[in-house]
Amino acid sequence: MSKTKIAVLVSGGGTNLQALLDAEASGILHSGEIVLVVSNKPGAYALTRAEKAGVEGITLTRAACGGQEGFEAALNEALESRGVELIILAGFLSILSAAFTQRWENRILNIHPSLIPSFCGKGFYGLKIHEAALARGVKYTGATVHYVNHIPDGGEILLQQPVPVLPGDTPEVLQRRVMEQAEWILLPQAAELVSAKLMSEQAEHEKQ
Ligand code: GAR
Repeated sequence: MSKTKIAVLVSGGGTNLQALLDAEASGILHSGEIVLVVSNKPGAYALTRAEKAGVEGITLTRAACGGQEGFEAALNEALESRGVELIILAGFLSILSAAFTQRWENRILNIHPSLIPSFCGKGFYGLKIHEAALARGVKYTGATVHYVNHIPDGGEILLQQPVPVLPGDTPEVLQRRVMEQAEWILLPQAAELVSAKLMSEQAEHEKQ
């Protein structure tokens, strides 16, 4: 049985990508292999992480591709030419079109740093989510891994992990706690879960 080929899409520092790379190295992620990292931000540190791990990294920007349609066409070409079967959005801060999410139905996962349906949807990304959680005064926040469909943060929820908000938290402190106690654990777990499912479906398919 061959492992599920994974592409990780990133926009920034890539600590979630690092968690996935580490999980592959340690065997927590053993049913999938990361074959490609795609950044939509030139020079993102995530690309350096990919390089250090010996994983191919490429940059595709909307501007260089002539807009969203061109960007997604180039992305599809990059993914298909490498036989990618599962896409993981790990701090990928750009919204994908309905045409793209339909093409990859049940094949795209996203990590979101809140307990969906709180603090999610358009405009909720990165530190803004933790600022909003603190402003609302919630006592628990957390992270969610979900399938991606045409509704931003609206696809089926796969895994969630709550994290406490503590007195004196700043958005940065809370962000770090959510990453350490939820995101970096949950995302590799989800990657393994879905990779194993796709791998066994593929094996069934090959038997027929
Ligand atoms: C992470 O907290 C991720 O959950 C969040 O951006 C950060 C990226 O950090 N994603 C979103 O807000 C998506 N709506 P990283 O580049 O270090 O993984």
